Amino acid sequence: MHAVRLEPSGRVLRVAAGQSVLEAALAAGLPFPHQCKAAMCRSCRCTLQAGRIASRKPQHPPLSLDEQAQGLILACQTEPRSDLVIAVEARGNRPIPPAP
Ligand code: FES
Repeated sequence: MHAVRLEPSGRVLRVAAGQSVLEAALAAGLPFPHQCKAAMCRSCRCTLQAGRIASRKPQHPPLSLDEQAQGLILACQTEPRSDLVIAVEARGNRPIPPAP
């Protein structure tokens, strides 16, 4: 189990072994941007600011090498290997609200 802090909301998710960041966010009822859940649409892209991850699928495509170098990841394919800090843009979705 790893803690994943979502910025700018400061919300903290608990992500179980074998669970993706997106799966944990949706299980928590958060409006995390997503569509396909299969590494195709890029809707769930976000920026890894701290921590170690494993990707279920190679991330290119759909992320370019430049995007990967900037820290972009796909939440639907990302499993934490340590506690993480991730920046999430709302991108048309309502933003992730701060913890109540
Ligand atoms: S939800 Fe489509 S790439 Fe992650």
